[in-house]
Amino acid sequence: MPEGPLRLVVFISGGGSTLENIIQRIDDGRLTNTRIVLVVSSRSNVRGVEIARTADLPLAIIRKQDYADEAAFSSTLTAAVDAVHADLVVLAGFLCFWRLPAHWQGRVLNIHPALLPRFGGRGMYGQHVHEAVLATGERDSGCTVHLADNEYDHGPTVAQAHVPVEPDDTPETLAARVAAAERELYPHVIQQIAVNGLGWLDPYRAALCADS
Ligand code: GAR
Repeated sequence: MPEGPLRLVVFISGGGSTLENIIQRIDDGRLTNTRIVLVVSSRSNVRGVEIARTADLPLAIIRKQDYADEAAFSSTLTAAVDAVHADLVVLAGFLCFWRLPAHWQGRVLNIHPALLPRFGGRGMYGQHVHEAVLATGERDSGCTVHLADNEYDHGPTVAQAHVPVEPDDTPETLAARVAAAERELYPHVIQQIAVNGLGWLDPYRAALCADS
């Protein structure tokens, strides 16, 4: 067991259901040894921001349009997570690109609502993902937790959960089934790290180094 709770930062851009789920699980004791030390939102007027405020969490709104370029935006994100001495960052529907400096590589997770490496990348978010899965006639979908690298929806897979695609599925019904799987998978991975320490990620970090 690591010393002290895992210092977690959650990056959001929208609805915040992933953030809400993590907060609930910490509150009801299903996610232990974890403290959200900061929520970063790339948008100011989204439900996720309200969720962070209601939960009284430290919140930073860091909008890409307020910076001259991607490098300046990324440096601001890095400074924000460094300032709170975070252990781990989880991307939770974060729609912007954070260019990871070396000291953050291997400590940033993303969740994606499909079985990567398929159906990921820029523009593949929300209903777009489920529409694409249905359009290709897949019988299987799910969600992926992976270590983030410096490409969208890319990096070593840490965990996946599968759900069936039913013949009468619409993007909405498939999205709901995948969302239910996400609500279990992300907290499960965070809990492993909270209990076992960041070293639990070492095998996946090794794959990250081999890739780059
Ligand atoms: C989640 O379904 C997550 O998997 C997806 O965004 C949603 C966030 O919802 N992430 C991606 O598509 C990453 N490419 P939320 O804002 O309600 O938490």
